[in-house]
This record gives sequence, C-alpha cells and structure tokens, in this order.
Amino acid sequence: MTAVALGLPTPRTSTATASHPTPTSGPLRDTFGRVARDLRVSVTDRCNLRCTYCMPADGLDWMPGDKLLSTEEMIRVLTVAVRDLGVERIRFTGGEPLLRRDLEDIISAIAALENRPEIAMTTNGLGLTRRARGLADAGLDRVNVSLDTVDATRFAQVTRRDRLDDVIAGLAAAADAGLGPIKVNAVLPERADLARLPDLLSFCLAHGYELRIIEQMPLDADHAWARNQMVTADEIMATLHDHFDLRPDPTPRGSAPAATWLVDGHTHAGRPTRLGVIASVTRPFCGDCDRTRLTADGALRNCLFAATETDLRGALRGRRSTEAGPAAVDAEIARLWRANAWAKAAGHTVNSDDFEQPARPMSAIGG
Ligand code: 5AD
Ligand code: SF4
Repeated sequence: MTAVALGLPTPRTSTATASHPTPTSGPLRDTFGRVARDLRVSVTDRCNLRCTYCMPADGLDWMPGDKLLSTEEMIRVLTVAVRDLGVERIRFTGGEPLLRRDLEDIISAIAALENRPEIAMTTNGLGLTRRARGLADAGLDRVNVSLDTVDATRFAQVTRRDRLDDVIAGLAAAADAGLGPIKVNAVLPERADLARLPDLLSFCLAHGYELRIIEQMPLDADHAWARNQMVTADEIMATLHDHFDLRPDPTPRGSAPAATWLVDGHTHAGRPTRLGVIASVTRPFCGDCDRTRLTADGALRNCLFAATETDLRGALRGRRSTEAGPAAVDAEIARLWRANAWAKAAGHTVNSDDFEQPARPMSAIGG
C-alpha cells in the first residue's frame, strides 16, 4: 500500500474584533479571511431514490409546498447572490433537483445575468434522458451524477430502487447534451464496497467520466453513521493503487474539496482522466472552503454542519417586504447573507468528542 497525502487544511486565524464588524458591502467574507464564491442551492428535499446512507426506506416528512421558495423567489435570491455578493458558481442540488419542474426556468434566468455564474447540478441521473438537452439549452454547464456502484444488485440494495440502467442512460444523455466534464459521485456505504470500486472506476474511464469518491459524512436522516464503519480515503486509495497506475494531479487544488489523481494510460478527448477523493472526515479542507448554501425553504447555511441558519423566506414574504419595496428587500437579503457568512466557524467538528449532527439531513441541505 502506498501512503498518499491528501492535503491538510490551511490553518486560519479569526480576525473578528469590535473594529471588524460584519461587512456591509462586498462579497461573502468570514472572519477567517475566506470568501464564499460557490453557492449550493437545494431546490427540493424530495428524492426518487432512498440511498441507505441518506434516507429511511419510507422517505422523510417532505417540506410542504408553500414553505419552498417559488420560482420567482429563487431567481430573486440567486440574482442578489450573483449581482451583489460576488457568487461566481452555482450548483443545484436536492434531494433530487430534477424533481423540480421549474429548474430550466431558474437556470435560464441565472444564465441571463450580467456576471453569468458557472452553473452546475448534482443529480441522481433519473430523468436526465428527458431533460439533459433542455437543461443545457437553458444554460446548465455541467453535471455530477451520483452513482455508487455499477453492480445492479448492489445498486438496488443501496438506493432501494432497481434503477441502475436508468442512471447509466442518464449519464449518456448528459454527455450527449455536452454537460461535461461529467463527474460521478460515489459513496461507499460498506467496506465490502471497496471490492466493487475498480469496476466503477473502469466504467468511468471507459466513458470519460471523472469519478469522485466521497467519505460518508454524519448527515444521514437515521443518525446511523459510525466512524469505525466509514470507508476512509486511505482505504479507497490503497484499493485503487492495487488496480490502477495513479499519480498525484499537478493542478493546484485551490478551494476544491477533492484531492485529485491522474489515471496513467487513460485519456478522454485528449485530456488525461482524473479521479478525485473527497476526504471530508479524515482530512477536512475547511480552511480553503469557499461555499455557502441555500436550502429549498429559503434558509442560508454557511457550512454543511452548521448548527444555525438564517431565514430568508421571512424577508421575502414578510409584510415589510411589500411596504419597503423590492430594492429594500434585496438589500435586506444581502445584509442577512453577509452576516450569515461572517459567522462561519473555522471548520466542522466531526472529529471532536462533542460533535452534534445537524438537525437537517443531507437531503434537505444539498451536497
Ligand atoms: N456523506 C457523504 N456524501 C453524501 N451524499 C449523500 N449523503 C451523503 C453522506 N452522508 C452525496 C450523494 C450525492 C451528493 C449530493 O452527496 O451521494 O452525490
Ligand atoms: Fe436521493 Fe441523493 Fe439522498 Fe440518494 S443521496 S436518497 S439520490 S438525495
């Protein structure tokens, strides 16, 4: 086994003092010198799969429709993010974002903004055969498709649905529609899944998809996550090194959560094929995080693991909003967002004894 460094988080020191109050203009800064340029938007908490590491078999109590931000409210909040708060990249997630019928409308409105952000989506791939082309036409740039295994029996166990072929067809449709470079997100729920990993990577290499393997995080609705059961990045890399020639990717990592490798001997469309490992638990990268999050019901979160959130829906719908007029409401959204960003903690505390799992599961936050 070869030990491979995944990159340690950069230590950060807070600059919060009475003379450094919450900024009233400019981008989404925090007190550790980070700037959030990457927005993850969960557009629904519903999903048509039931991945064991995410949801119970019976699903969850979905958010009621009137609590979700409407098409217009979403567009409005995202416009403030791009126009006033320096957001440069937007990723739509869920639950399953394709369960929202208005996704194309939201995307085309965002794509028409003056400082057009890069627009991506994380999806389970179901429905992409029908919608990939329209999404690309609306302005979607690229997709990540969640696929943990190419073994049909294991896929049906993990997702509790027999839909592997539909996901594979969805990936192909995304590639045809030009939604690349396409990434495949994989979580390995059990150690036995390591034995199936080489087949998944071979599948990705054959189609030119970039595999991203994610350490399982304690964000499951069942609160069943256990540290000693989690498959670690070291185990993942050891397995892959046994089967493939990998060398560290010389491209600087920046704020990207994945440490990446090049798979020697494999190119796609003239580019070397990459592989990424997201070691959120064993090697947190919080020091370089540039992400901010919006939930489907209009709450801001400055971290996946944040214990508090900031409600924007009240500002959008409150009586003051009709009285104060649109510019005042936009200013209030920006003020609330800057304050939420400013309060971001140095990093998550998954590895400390007093860690408490957030009340919202992953499906209601967005990956
Ligand atoms: N830990 C890590 N990744 C997760 N995902 C869902 N739940 C978890 C978890 N507990 C992944 C999904 C999807 C993305 C949105 O997040 O596989 O690719
Ligand atoms: Fe759905 Fe994603 Fe959760 Fe699986 S991980 S149940 S695809 S939201």
